[in-house]
Formats: sequence, structure tokens, C-alpha cells
Amino acid sequence: MSTRVAEVFETMEYGPAPESRAPVDAWLQARSGRFGHVIDGAYRTPAGGEYLEVMNPASGTLLAHVAQGDEADVAAAVEAARRAQPGWAALGGHARARHLYAIARRIQKQARFFSVLESLDNGKPIREARDIDIPLVARHFYHHAGWAQLMESELPDAEPLGVVGQIIPWNFPLLMLAWKIAPAIAMGNAVVLKPAEYTPLTALYFAELCAEAGLPPGVVNIVTGDGRTGAALVEHPDVDKIAFTGSTEVGRIIRRALAGTGKRLSLELGGKSPFVVFDDADLDSVVEGVVDAIWFNQGQVCCAGSRILAHEGIADRLVGKLRARMEKLRVGDPLDKGVDIGAIVAPVQLERIRSLVETGEAEGATLWQPSWSCPTEGWFYPPTLLTDVAPAATVAQVEIFGPVVVLMTFRTPDEAVELANNTRYGLAASVWTESVNLALDIAPRIKAGTVWVNCTNVFDAASEFGGYRESGFGREGGREGLWEYVRSIHEPRGEPARAVTRDGASDAAGDGAKPDEAGARTGSAFDGGPAGRAKAGPPPIDRTAKLYIGGKQARPDQGYSFDVRAPDGTVVGQASRGNRKDLRNAVEAAHRAVDWGRGIAHTRAQVLYYLAENLHARADEFARRLQRLGATEAEAAREVDASVRRIFTYAAWADKWDGAVHHTPFRNVTIAMPEPIGVFGVVCPEEAPLLGFVSTAIPPLALGNSVVAVPSERAPLAATDLYQVLETSDVPAGALNIVTGPRAELAPVLADHDDVDALWYFGSARGSAEVEEKSAANMKRTWVSHGARRDWYDARVAEGPSFLRRATELKNIWVPYGE
Ligand code: NAI
Repeated sequence: MSTRVAEVFETMEYGPAPESRAPVDAWLQARSGRFGHVIDGAYRTPAGGEYLEVMNPASGTLLAHVAQGDEADVAAAVEAARRAQPGWAALGGHARARHLYAIARRIQKQARFFSVLESLDNGKPIREARDIDIPLVARHFYHHAGWAQLMESELPDAEPLGVVGQIIPWNFPLLMLAWKIAPAIAMGNAVVLKPAEYTPLTALYFAELCAEAGLPPGVVNIVTGDGRTGAALVEHPDVDKIAFTGSTEVGRIIRRALAGTGKRLSLELGGKSPFVVFDDADLDSVVEGVVDAIWFNQGQVCCAGSRILAHEGIADRLVGKLRARMEKLRVGDPLDKGVDIGAIVAPVQLERIRSLVETGEAEGATLWQPSWSCPTEGWFYPPTLLTDVAPAATVAQVEIFGPVVVLMTFRTPDEAVELANNTRYGLAASVWTESVNLALDIAPRIKAGTVWVNCTNVFDAASEFGGYRESGFGREGGREGLWEYVRSIHEPRGEPARAVTRDGASDAAGDGAKPDEAGARTGSAFDGGPAGRAKAGPPPIDRTAKLYIGGKQARPDQGYSFDVRAPDGTVVGQASRGNRKDLRNAVEAAHRAVDWGRGIAHTRAQVLYYLAENLHARADEFARRLQRLGATEAEAAREVDASVRRIFTYAAWADKWDGAVHHTPFRNVTIAMPEPIGVFGVVCPEEAPLLGFVSTAIPPLALGNSVVAVPSERAPLAATDLYQVLETSDVPAGALNIVTGPRAELAPVLADHDDVDALWYFGSARGSAEVEEKSAANMKRTWVSHGARRDWYDARVAEGPSFLRRATELKNIWVPYGE
């Protein structure tokens, strides 16, 4: 039967174009289809002798067996990493750069092999593995070879963390490995990486390649297994940091497990990213954008554009075009180069997609799928569009992680922003409009770590990636991503991660005492130690300092106050005992002060200069107050002077904490923009009651956050005296709120509060643990001191970029150019 050329164009039917899997099969056979862990540069059989099956999602057939790691395997890998790390760090940046470069070169040489292996293991189309995943993997190692080279000059005060445990998901197995391993080893750490149980094979091949490339044994260790192996890695006491990508649910478990251990943590979690289409957008480009947003990698993408928000005027036309395009998508054998959509990673995931789509229909959504059917062998799901979806519907809120997109409409840009932010997640967004003004107005208003304008799902090693809100914290890639794998040599250490048990954590700053006991301790109010024992006799009582909420002095909810005492026990005044209700009011007031963050940095700088000036004008009064709280005349004068200077520092920084424009390898301007996080809780240090307060409450304020601060419990009057200064300094109502009272009661309330976006806590190890543990509910960003003291007069640890970085989140906005 002959086919006319015109008919070929009509049907666009291609014959199969399969990529050969022979080299991968040969590799699997050479290892008898059975793999141990890679520890200390060699395969090692699992201690427990247990193995997992690794399946090919496109056929449902067995590919290989891999070891199921247990505590003993994890311990062996961590030991190997610990042994290797000092030597690796000591090699220096240049030598490490050469190693990373060698790995990058080898990945490029093995690109075809990796692509086929990845496609077989994960089910993703070979076209994507070959053109996107593997080139980006190589790019990450090249880029971070550069950072290894530059570490000593660009991060002069940084040192590696030590041993890093890394846990990754199955959707981009090798790419997630690269995102984790490249920056970690570039900065001189050794790693133990656990790939996902469904997709461990490229990680094992990568470990072989590292050995061939001459990487010292123990620098990269791979332990395979399921969630139990991941949990063993998280719980291992000799790991300095955990980096995790996966579900928000597991992220939360890990956050809680690590609370108070002092181990660092970064989390890249789920998303429900909006795909916003304005009525002036080029709809044909939009349709291709949707293909990339939700049918790339079968929609198993954490930043998948899974919620189309279309302007009402164009929604019907867009739906028509989308349905036509979906009809032409090709689902099938991932190794076929002409296939657009491959297989779903595992039956459990397929079932999850099916059941969520059923829920969507049951809740009233209209389902549309192409007329053709999927292969019956293997685990496939067709591209799916759900319309008539309410914003609160399950399918509009829950991450489906499959080729399913929902579509909702909006009328105005404000409504689009509101809908876009109507999610607990905040990983990514894309915005489609021909108006660059509109795009750049909308992008900063969407709470997401990455915003793509007229493009979607583009990534690069130079551009930071990571979440807002429950999509996790920390950034991967770019300069910002390096901070996840280093610490400042000046930073005071809390109790070392390895020595801390949560129950036995020490209570260095004395949290846990009731406020009326605060004066009944021994020691100086200024070194953070307990204050002196009360003396008898009538005290000279000031009026009771109120709380400061919404720009006004406010009586505490329950009307209680507590004595504030000098170290010798003399009562020098009374402060209000704030409670849960007062904090709630303060958080609400902070939320109403959004204009502070949206405003102009220059204005914030002016307000802070004015604040410093007014404090300076009342320097004697503040010094007297500090003296009455126990400072010598000289100490008091020094503290007030340092406080004025510190406010000046942040007034100076307010308009200088700039972002960057990254060199990404596309025709893009990629703008990395630091943004305020939102409503900030600050539990200030006990020591240096005025300087400590200023040093911790002002940096987030300077960068546009609204702050709810809990000042020193023993000497709150140094902070409450600021009310009048604040009132005369044009600080807008609600931008800075002050609630005095028992830290041990107030800190957990802030940590629990779902409308608090970030929390800094300077206090005891136990209080730090509680803050971290409770913060898991809404995944707020925390910075805690684990009981370590810092010298608030030492600028290296008391001010500057390390504070500013933690007071902001980095958003990357991709703006393509060219016709
Ligand atoms: P998951 O979060 O359970 O798995 C991710 C990784 O964590 C795997 O390596 C797993 O073995 C490990 N893990 C599981 N439990 C652990 C524990 N208690 N402690 C330490 N490590 C643990 O994700 P899963 O079950 O594979 O997928 C479920 C859903 O999660 C998906 O449907 C999707 O919604 C979401 N997900 C999001 C990803 C993202 O990139 N943000 C990636 C994978 C899944």
C-alpha cells in the first residue's frame, strides 16, 4: 500500500525510532543485575543481605536488584565519608575544581549511556533525558568546578560543613544527584547520597564513573534503599547536614527529626505551580508552554505548571487549542525518539494519579483526555485537562505529580495573583503576556522561588532554584546554593550536632524560667547569665511598660505584668506579660503592614537613619536605663553607641542588598532578586538587651519584612524604651511589633503560628529544638543559636550579610528576549 506525502503530513504518523538499549543491558549483565552500595570507592554488599527490585516502568519488567541499605550500611558510608573529607578539603579549591571538571567531561562522554539508563529506569522519554537531563548534569559539574576554583577568593571566611547526607527523588534521578553532589563536593564536603528506590541505577553508574575519574574514595558514597535507608541517614549522629528533595510530607518528618540537633537542613519539596495566561499572550506559544509545563517528564516535576490560570476572555480559545494539541501528543515507549510522554515511574504513583483525577471529577471537574489510548503494557497515563475546577477543589490544591493540569479563570491581574498564591506551596510560576511591564509587575507578587516569563521549566546551574513557604527552604545552584554547604569560620557553634540529644539539650540561655523568676537568678544581665537574687525593701518602680502592637502601645491581653530586676535584685520596673493572644494581634498587625515591604528601599533606609538619630538624641536616657539594669557607665555608653551604629549599618544596607543577573545559557535575562520573606518572628538574645535587640530585629525590618520581636526577658525595658523612639521615627504601624514576656512561652507560639513566615531564635539549645520542631507545621524558615552565644560587638558575627541573607528569599525571574 503506498502512502502519499500529503497523507503523511495529514496524519503526522512516524514510524518507531528506538534508541538502542544494548550498552545498558551489557552493563547490567556484567554486574549480574545485582548491585551493592558504593562505599569508599567500591561496591559493597548490604549488611542485611536484603535487595530491592528495580523495574522498567515502560514494560513493568525487572531491570536489576539493588541493595536495601540499613543502619550498618549507612554507618559504613558515613564513616568512609568522614575519613575522606579532611583530605578532600585540604586538596584546595583548584585540585577539587580539576576533579569536578574531570567528572563533567566523563559525563559528557557517557551522555548517551546515561540517557538510555535514565530513560529505562525512570520511564522518561529519551528525548528529554538526552536533551535536558544529562546536559544539565554536566553543566552543574562544570559550573561548580568553577566555584571550587573560586571558593578561597570568593568565600574567604567559609569552611565545608563536613559530611553531608543527601536524599533525592525519582523524577530527575541523575539531575537531582548533580544538584546535590556538585556544590557539596566543590565546597570540600564528602557526601552520602541515597537515590530514590525506584531509580537508583544512574547514581550507581555515576559512582563508577567517579572512581574511573580518580575521585578519592569516600568523597562520594551511594547507599541505595527505600525510605528506611533515608531515615537511617537522617538519624545518623555523625552527619553534619541533610539535603532533601521529595514530598512535603517526608520533608516535614525530616525537619522534626533534625530539630535541635544542630545539623543543617535544606528542603526542596512539592509544588502546585501556577501558569498564568493573560489575554494578550501569544496563545500558540502558551500551548507549547503548557506542553513543557505539565507533560514534560509525565508531569512528575516539582515545579510543573499544574494550575493554568487563564484570563476569562481567552479561556475558551485556549481550551480548544490545548485539546487539539493534546490529541497530537504521543505517549509510548520512552526509548522511542519520537515519543513525547513516557511512563509513570511506579504503579503506586499511577494509582495516586488515577485516584486524584477521580476525586476531581467527583468534585465537579470536567475531564478531557485525547481519543487515543495508552499502551497497556507498563504504567502509562494520558495527558489530562480538568476544567470547571473550583479554587478550593482537591485537584486545585494537591500536588498530583502526573500529566494532569487543571484550568481556572480570572478577570483582573489582582485576581490572578490572588489565585496564584492560593496554595501552601511556592516553588515556581510562569506568567504569559506580551507586556513586559505587566509580567514584571506580577512576578514579584507571586510567592515562588522561580518565575518564568513566557517560558517554563527552564533551569541552569547558575540560577538558584528553591521554594517559598511549604515548598521548602534553601537554594540549589548559583552562588546562593553554595551557602547550603559551608559555614562561616567565625560563626559561634552551638552544641556540636553529634553531641546533642534532644532530651539532654542544655538550657544555656535560661529559657524555661517563669518571668517572675527571671530576676531571682544569679549572674549579670549582660552576659546572658542568670540575674542576681532579689533583695528585700521597696523598689523604685517605673510605670509598667506596655506592649507595642500595630504602632500603638497596647495593654497585654490578660493585664499581667512582671518585675524587671537589676542584677542585685532591685526591681527597676515592670513589663507586660504578653501571651498567645497578644502575639496573634501582633502577627495580624504585621500582616497589615505589607506596604513596608512593597515600598521603596530608599524610604526604609531613611526611616532607619531617622530611628538611629532619635536613639542617639536620647542616648543618655538609654544609657541610664542600661545602668539601672546593671551595666557600668562605660558599658552602658558603649552599648548605646554600638546600637546606634548597628541601626546605621542596616539603614546603609537597606538599599544595597542587591540581587544579580545570571548568565544562563539561553536567550534570557535571569534576574535573581532578594525579597522580604514576610512576617518575621524574632526572639532576641538575652545578652546585651539593647544591642542584641537592635542586631536581630532590625535586619529583617531593613529588608522589608514586618517583625514581631520578643526582647530580652530579663531586661526588656531596654527595648520597651524604644517605643517612643519608634513613634517619632516614621516606622509604619505594624512594621515592628514588640511583645515582652516569657520567652519559653512566647517562642513556641511564634513557631507554631501559620502566618509567621520566618523565625529567628537566639537562646537555649532546648528552646532552639522546640522552635525547629514546631516550625515544621508551615515549614517556616528558622535560624536558631542552639545555645551558642555571639559577641554582639564583633561585627564579623553580629551583623552583615549572614543576617541579610537569612532575612530574604531569592527569587529568580527568567525573561527571554529575541523575536
Ligand atoms: P518521597 O518524599 O517519599 O521520596 C523522596 C525520597 O525520600 C526517596 O529517596 C525516599 O526513599 C526518601 N524517603 C522516604 N521516606 C523517608 C524518610 N522517612 N526519611 C528519609 N527519607 C525518606 O516521595 P515519593 O513517595 O516517592 O512520592 C510521593 C509524592 O511526593 C509524589 O506523588 C509527589 O507529589 C511528591 N514528590 C515530590 C518531589 C519533588 O521533587 N518535589 C519528588 C518526589 C515526590
